[in-house]
Amino acid sequence: MRGRIREFRRADLGAILRIEAKAFPKMPYDRGTFLYFASAYRDNFMVYIAGHEVVGYIIFYPDGHIVSVAVHARYRRSGIGTELVGEVLKRTRGDAIVEVRESNEVARAFYSHLGFVMQRIIPEYYGDEDALVMINPFSKEKGFTEKGLRSKLSFTKKV
Ligand SMILES: CC(C)(COP(=O)(O)OP(=O)(O)OC[C@H]1O[C@@H](n2cnc3c(N)ncnc32)[C@H](O)[C@@H]1OP(=O)(O)O)[C@@H](O)C(=O)NCCC(=O)NCCS
Repeated sequence: MRGRIREFRRADLGAILRIEAKAFPKMPYDRGTFLYFASAYRDNFMVYIAGHEVVGYIIFYPDGHIVSVAVHARYRRSGIGTELVGEVLKRTRGDAIVEVRESNEVARAFYSHLGFVMQRIIPEYYGDEDALVMINPFSKEKGFTEKGLRSKLSFTKKV
């Protein structure tokens, strides 16, 4: 897909909320959460533009911990998710880690396709389900402690 990636702007919020509602119907992030990330992690909240439309986003912490990524259903399987994660890897020089719900087979296939490997399981991370922690094998391990992951739990996607 030929598009471009840029930082989130407030005018993108409506489109992002619509993408979010379809991508994570059980537990979508709300407006306040997106605005929090936009203000606290401005450089780490990127959107994907196809034509003039916002069709995907990614949020990550500066250390490469991916908080959430979603692509508009109509635009999936065209490489947008790959480009968004690629942007993270470019900015962190290869550091990337993510927790995935055990049942989220699409996300597992997606990160596996990108070369991520399973690092460990965090039992009951989501309350009702374990998290698989997947990591870019070229990441430097430091900083990716379980304590660090858990401290961010309140902003971790519940899918
Ligand atoms: C996960 C997600 C972001 C992937 O975005 P995408 O733009 O469709 O991903 P890409 O086109 O870059 O896919 C790259 C590869 O991942 C794998 N993959 C992606 N979607 C897949 C699916 N539905 N089933 C199996 N494998 C899949 C494939 O190997 C794919 O390569 P291919 O299309 O050449 O076979 C998107 O499906 C999404 O928004 N899902 C809902 C939200 C979510 O679960 N986010 C992840 C958890 S935070």
